[in-house]
Amino acid sequence: MLSLLVLHGPNLNLLGKREPGIYGAQTLAEVNASLQVEAATLATQLEILQSNHEGALVDAIHAAMDRHQGILINPGAYTHTSVALRDAIAGVDLPTVEVHLSNIYRRESFRHHSYIAPVAVGQISGFGVESYRLGLHALVGYLRSRAITS
Ligand code: DQA
Repeated sequence: MLSLLVLHGPNLNLLGKREPGIYGAQTLAEVNASLQVEAATLATQLEILQSNHEGALVDAIHAAMDRHQGILINPGAYTHTSVALRDAIAGVDLPTVEVHLSNIYRRESFRHHSYIAPVAVGQISGFGVESYRLGLHALVGYLRSRAITS
């Protein structure tokens, strides 16, 4: 069975309470439950982790190397700051899809740059919690088509 790591970065534990006008009313637990349901329809297993700590996210990416075939990540604010996360993703060489609830390009200019995007298969930004669902489908589709062609 396909197995993926889903990573949520800093402050995403506050989903539902945090700036709901930007990030929506759903809690992280609700988002994760919907992702698990969606993954089951795709015959895919998910390990889901949220951390506010950059090093813990780096460790989780390293650990994914032997356990998972791909990574779905919302790096939160580390998107715009973290060379370490970018290097970890490049280092493990696992296909990664970057997602954002908000459209980072419509917001403050400091959010317009992503350190993750150049090492990701692609990025989905701006569709609220739907970004995660779209990202999951995109990653599964990418991995399955690659398995057929290689
Ligand atoms: C975010 C966008 C980031 O700029 C922000 O720091 C977040 C959430 C999003 O999902 O829209 O924490 O990644």
